[in-house]
Amino acid sequence: MTWKQLFTSSVGKKFVMALTGVSLIGFLIVHAGLNACIWANDDGAMFNRAARFMGTTVVIRIMEVGLFIGIILHIVQGILLELENRARRTIRYTVPLGNRGSKWYSRSMGLLGTLILLFLIMHIYHFWTPSRLGGIGAIQELQHVEYAGDTTVYHDLYREMVNVFQSPLIVVLYLLGCISLAYHLLHGFSSAFRTLGLHNQRYVKLVKAAGIAFSVIVPFVFAMMPVSIYLGWIK
Ligand code: HEM
Repeated sequence: MTWKQLFTSSVGKKFVMALTGVSLIGFLIVHAGLNACIWANDDGAMFNRAARFMGTTVVIRIMEVGLFIGIILHIVQGILLELENRARRTIRYTVPLGNRGSKWYSRSMGLLGTLILLFLIMHIYHFWTPSRLGGIGAIQELQHVEYAGDTTVYHDLYREMVNVFQSPLIVVLYLLGCISLAYHLLHGFSSAFRTLGLHNQRYVKLVKAAGIAFSVIVPFVFAMMPVSIYLGWIK
Protein backbone atom coordinates (compact mmCIF):
# COMPACT_ATOMS: atom_id res chain seq x y z
CA MET A 1 0.00 0.00 0.00
CA THR A 2 1.38 3.45 -0.95
CA TRP A 3 1.36 6.48 1.40
CA LYS A 4 -1.36 8.02 -0.78
CA GLN A 5 -3.57 4.90 -0.54
CA LEU A 6 -3.15 4.96 3.24
CA PHE A 7 -5.16 8.17 3.30
CA THR A 8 -7.42 7.74 0.25
CA SER A 9 -8.53 4.07 0.06
CA SER A 10 -11.10 2.62 2.50
CA VAL A 11 -8.68 -0.10 3.64
CA GLY A 12 -5.94 2.50 4.16
CA LYS A 13 -8.26 4.73 6.20
CA LYS A 14 -9.33 1.78 8.38
CA PHE A 15 -5.66 0.94 8.90
CA VAL A 16 -4.86 4.51 10.01
CA MET A 17 -7.92 4.44 12.32
CA ALA A 18 -6.73 1.18 13.88
CA LEU A 19 -3.11 2.32 14.29
CA THR A 20 -4.07 5.67 15.85
CA GLY A 21 -6.75 3.91 17.94
CA VAL A 22 -4.19 1.50 19.44
CA SER A 23 -1.83 4.44 20.22
CA LEU A 24 -4.74 6.26 21.92
CA ILE A 25 -5.44 3.12 23.97
CA GLY A 26 -1.79 3.27 25.10
CA PHE A 27 -2.23 6.94 26.01
CA LEU A 28 -5.35 6.15 28.07
CA ILE A 29 -3.40 3.60 30.15
CA VAL A 30 -0.65 6.14 30.93
CA HIS A 31 -3.16 8.94 31.55
CA ALA A 32 -5.34 6.86 33.93
CA GLY A 33 -2.24 5.54 35.74
CA LEU A 34 -0.77 9.01 36.23
CA ASN A 35 -4.08 10.53 37.33
CA ALA A 36 -4.59 7.68 39.81
CA CYS A 37 -1.86 9.40 41.89
CA ILE A 38 -4.64 11.70 43.17
CA TRP A 39 -5.78 8.80 45.36
CA ALA A 40 -2.51 8.97 47.31
CA ASN A 41 -4.54 11.55 49.25
CA ASP A 42 -1.42 13.65 49.93
CA ASP A 43 -2.87 17.01 48.88
CA GLY A 44 -1.83 16.33 45.29
CA ALA A 45 1.94 16.06 45.93
CA MET A 46 2.43 12.78 44.06
CA PHE A 47 0.10 13.80 41.22
CA ASN A 48 1.67 17.27 40.78
CA ARG A 49 5.16 15.73 40.73
CA ALA A 50 4.11 13.17 38.10
CA ALA A 51 2.38 15.88 36.01
CA ARG A 52 5.50 18.06 36.21
CA PHE A 53 7.66 15.17 35.01
CA MET A 54 5.33 14.67 32.03
CA GLY A 55 5.26 18.40 31.27
CA THR A 56 9.00 19.02 31.45
CA THR A 57 10.50 15.90 29.85
CA VAL A 58 11.46 16.63 26.23
CA VAL A 59 10.74 13.13 24.87
CA ILE A 60 7.28 13.18 26.46
CA ARG A 61 6.54 16.65 25.06
CA ILE A 62 7.46 15.35 21.58
CA MET A 63 5.16 12.34 22.17
CA GLU A 64 2.43 14.81 23.14
CA VAL A 65 2.67 16.39 19.66
CA GLY A 66 2.34 12.86 18.22
CA LEU A 67 -0.70 12.31 20.44
CA PHE A 68 -2.50 15.38 19.10
CA ILE A 69 -1.62 14.44 15.49
CA GLY A 70 -2.96 10.92 16.24
CA ILE A 71 -6.22 12.31 17.66
CA ILE A 72 -6.73 14.57 14.62
CA LEU A 73 -5.97 11.76 12.13
CA HIS A 74 -8.34 9.42 14.01
CA ILE A 75 -11.13 12.01 13.83
CA VAL A 76 -10.61 13.01 10.18
CA GLN A 77 -10.34 9.42 8.90
CA GLY A 78 -13.34 8.47 11.05
CA ILE A 79 -15.48 11.21 9.53
CA LEU A 80 -14.40 10.28 5.98
CA LEU A 81 -15.14 6.56 6.55
CA GLU A 82 -18.54 7.35 8.09
CA LEU A 83 -19.44 9.54 5.06
CA GLU A 84 -18.32 6.78 2.65
CA ASN A 85 -20.38 4.18 4.51
CA ARG A 86 -23.46 6.41 4.49
CA ALA A 87 -23.09 7.06 0.75
CA ARG A 88 -22.85 3.30 0.13
CA ARG A 89 -25.84 2.55 2.37
CA THR A 90 -28.35 4.27 0.07
CA ILE A 91 -30.54 1.15 -0.12
CA ARG A 92 -31.90 0.40 3.35
CA TYR A 93 -32.75 -3.10 4.64
CA THR A 94 -36.51 -3.74 4.28
CA VAL A 95 -36.55 -5.16 7.81
CA PRO A 96 -33.90 -3.47 9.99
CA LEU A 97 -31.68 -6.12 11.59
CA GLY A 98 -31.29 -4.16 14.86
CA ASN A 99 -29.09 -5.86 17.42
CA ARG A 100 -29.21 -9.14 15.47
CA GLY A 101 -26.91 -7.65 12.81
CA SER A 102 -24.55 -5.78 15.16
CA LYS A 103 -24.66 -4.08 18.55
CA TRP A 104 -26.07 -0.54 18.75
CA TYR A 105 -22.71 0.86 19.85
CA SER A 106 -20.94 -0.70 16.84
CA ARG A 107 -23.42 1.13 14.61
CA SER A 108 -23.01 4.37 16.58
CA MET A 109 -19.21 4.80 16.53
CA GLY A 110 -19.54 8.19 14.76
CA LEU A 111 -21.99 9.50 17.35
CA LEU A 112 -19.95 8.16 20.28
CA GLY A 113 -16.78 9.63 18.74
CA THR A 114 -18.51 13.02 18.42
CA LEU A 115 -19.55 12.93 22.10
CA ILE A 116 -15.95 12.09 23.08
CA LEU A 117 -14.71 14.98 20.92
CA LEU A 118 -17.08 17.40 22.70
CA PHE A 119 -15.88 16.01 26.02
CA LEU A 120 -12.24 16.45 24.91
CA ILE A 121 -12.75 20.11 23.93
CA MET A 122 -14.17 20.84 27.40
CA HIS A 123 -11.48 18.72 29.05
CA ILE A 124 -8.53 20.36 27.25
CA TYR A 125 -10.00 23.76 28.20
CA HIS A 126 -10.18 22.72 31.87
CA PHE A 127 -6.70 21.28 32.31
CA TRP A 128 -4.36 21.33 29.34
CA THR A 129 -4.67 25.03 28.47
CA PRO A 130 -4.01 26.32 32.01
CA SER A 131 -1.20 23.83 32.46
CA ARG A 132 0.55 24.41 29.12
CA LEU A 133 -0.57 27.90 28.11
CA GLY A 134 -0.78 29.45 31.56
CA GLY A 135 -4.51 30.08 31.50
CA ILE A 136 -6.72 31.67 28.88
CA GLY A 137 -9.98 33.60 29.10
CA ALA A 138 -12.01 32.72 32.14
CA ILE A 139 -9.49 30.17 33.41
CA GLN A 140 -7.58 31.36 36.41
CA GLU A 141 -3.77 31.21 36.40
CA LEU A 142 -2.63 27.96 37.96
CA GLN A 143 -1.49 28.33 41.53
CA HIS A 144 1.95 27.14 42.51
CA VAL A 145 2.95 24.99 45.49
CA GLU A 146 6.08 23.76 47.24
CA TYR A 147 6.24 20.56 49.26
CA ALA A 148 8.23 20.05 52.45
CA GLY A 149 11.83 19.02 51.74
CA ASP A 150 11.48 19.84 48.04
CA THR A 151 12.39 23.32 46.76
CA THR A 152 10.89 22.77 43.29
CA VAL A 153 7.85 24.95 42.60
CA TYR A 154 5.00 22.95 41.07
CA HIS A 155 1.94 23.92 39.06
CA ASP A 156 -0.93 23.02 41.38
CA LEU A 157 -2.83 21.07 38.75
CA TYR A 158 -4.35 19.01 41.55
CA ARG A 159 -6.03 22.09 43.05
CA GLU A 160 -7.31 22.95 39.56
CA MET A 161 -8.88 19.49 39.42
CA VAL A 162 -10.48 19.92 42.85
CA ASN A 163 -11.86 23.34 41.77
CA VAL A 164 -13.23 22.06 38.44
CA PHE A 165 -14.99 19.08 40.04
CA GLN A 166 -16.94 21.16 42.56
CA SER A 167 -19.62 21.70 39.89
CA PRO A 168 -22.22 18.88 39.70
CA LEU A 169 -22.92 19.76 36.04
CA ILE A 170 -19.27 19.31 35.09
CA VAL A 171 -19.10 16.03 37.03
CA VAL A 172 -22.15 14.76 35.11
CA LEU A 173 -20.63 15.86 31.75
CA TYR A 174 -17.42 14.01 32.65
CA LEU A 175 -19.42 10.89 33.52
CA LEU A 176 -21.22 11.09 30.15
CA GLY A 177 -17.79 11.43 28.47
CA CYS A 178 -16.56 8.30 30.28
CA ILE A 179 -19.69 6.31 29.33
CA SER A 180 -19.28 7.34 25.67
CA LEU A 181 -15.62 6.30 25.86
CA ALA A 182 -16.59 2.90 27.33
CA TYR A 183 -19.00 2.09 24.48
CA HIS A 184 -16.60 3.49 21.83
CA LEU A 185 -13.86 1.19 23.17
CA LEU A 186 -16.19 -1.80 23.43
CA HIS A 187 -16.31 -1.90 19.63
CA GLY A 188 -13.06 -0.05 18.83
CA PHE A 189 -10.60 -2.12 20.87
CA SER A 190 -11.13 -5.52 19.20
CA SER A 191 -11.98 -3.95 15.83
CA ALA A 192 -8.59 -2.17 15.76
CA PHE A 193 -6.66 -5.39 16.41
CA ARG A 194 -8.70 -7.24 13.76
CA THR A 195 -7.90 -4.53 11.20
CA LEU A 196 -4.21 -4.79 12.09
CA GLY A 197 -4.31 -8.46 11.09
CA LEU A 198 -5.21 -10.45 14.20
CA HIS A 199 -7.33 -13.25 12.72
CA ASN A 200 -6.20 -16.35 14.64
CA GLN A 201 -9.36 -17.64 16.43
CA ARG A 202 -7.62 -18.19 19.80
CA TYR A 203 -6.16 -14.68 19.88
CA VAL A 204 -9.39 -13.12 18.60
CA LYS A 205 -11.21 -14.48 21.68
CA LEU A 206 -8.41 -13.27 23.96
CA VAL A 207 -8.42 -9.76 22.46
CA LYS A 208 -12.24 -9.64 22.70
CA ALA A 209 -12.06 -10.46 26.41
CA ALA A 210 -9.22 -7.97 26.98
CA GLY A 211 -11.24 -5.37 25.06
CA ILE A 212 -14.30 -5.83 27.28
CA ALA A 213 -12.17 -5.65 30.45
CA PHE A 214 -10.34 -2.54 29.21
CA SER A 215 -13.57 -0.80 28.11
CA VAL A 216 -15.09 -1.29 31.55
CA ILE A 217 -12.08 -0.75 33.85
CA VAL A 218 -10.37 2.28 32.27
CA PRO A 219 -13.49 4.51 31.87
CA PHE A 220 -14.58 3.42 35.38
CA VAL A 221 -11.20 4.54 36.83
CA PHE A 222 -11.56 7.89 34.99
CA ALA A 223 -15.17 8.29 36.16
CA MET A 224 -14.19 7.72 39.78
CA MET A 225 -11.83 10.75 39.65
CA PRO A 226 -14.48 13.52 39.45
CA VAL A 227 -16.78 11.43 41.67
CA SER A 228 -14.15 11.00 44.45
CA ILE A 229 -13.37 14.71 44.38
CA TYR A 230 -17.00 15.87 44.23
CA LEU A 231 -18.02 13.58 47.10
CA GLY A 232 -15.02 14.76 49.14
CA TRP A 233 -13.41 11.29 49.37
CA ILE A 234 -10.13 13.07 48.59
CA LYS A 235 -9.48 16.70 49.43
C1 HEM B 1 -12.30 11.79 33.86
C2 HEM B 1 -11.16 11.93 34.45
C3 HEM B 1 -10.01 12.68 33.86
C4 HEM B 1 -9.25 13.57 34.54
C5 HEM B 1 -9.40 13.97 35.99
C6 HEM B 1 -8.24 14.08 33.63
C7 HEM B 1 -7.26 15.01 33.95
C8 HEM B 1 -6.37 15.58 33.05
C9 HEM B 1 -5.39 16.56 33.38
C10 HEM B 1 -5.16 17.12 34.78
C11 HEM B 1 -4.73 16.89 32.23
C12 HEM B 1 -3.58 17.92 32.06
C13 HEM B 1 -2.26 17.19 32.17
C14 HEM B 1 -1.10 18.15 32.09
O1 HEM B 1 -1.24 19.20 31.51
O2 HEM B 1 -0.04 17.78 32.61
C15 HEM B 1 -5.31 16.10 31.17
C16 HEM B 1 -4.90 16.15 29.83
C17 HEM B 1 -5.45 15.42 28.82
N1 HEM B 1 -6.46 14.48 28.93
FE1 HEM B 1 -7.42 13.96 30.66
N2 HEM B 1 -8.41 13.47 32.40
C18 HEM B 1 -9.50 12.62 32.48
C19 HEM B 1 -10.03 11.83 31.47
C20 HEM B 1 -9.60 11.85 30.15
C21 HEM B 1 -10.16 11.05 29.10
C22 HEM B 1 -11.31 10.04 29.28
C23 HEM B 1 -9.49 11.36 27.96
C24 HEM B 1 -9.66 10.82 26.54
C25 HEM B 1 -10.79 10.39 26.04
C26 HEM B 1 -8.52 12.37 28.29
C27 HEM B 1 -7.66 12.98 27.39
C28 HEM B 1 -6.74 13.96 27.69
C29 HEM B 1 -5.86 14.59 26.71
C30 HEM B 1 -5.84 14.30 25.22
C31 HEM B 1 -5.07 15.49 27.42
C32 HEM B 1 -3.98 16.44 26.86
C33 HEM B 1 -2.73 15.70 26.54
C34 HEM B 1 -1.71 15.67 27.65
O3 HEM B 1 -1.56 16.65 28.36
O4 HEM B 1 -1.01 14.64 27.78
N3 HEM B 1 -8.60 12.65 29.63
N4 HEM B 1 -6.29 15.31 31.69
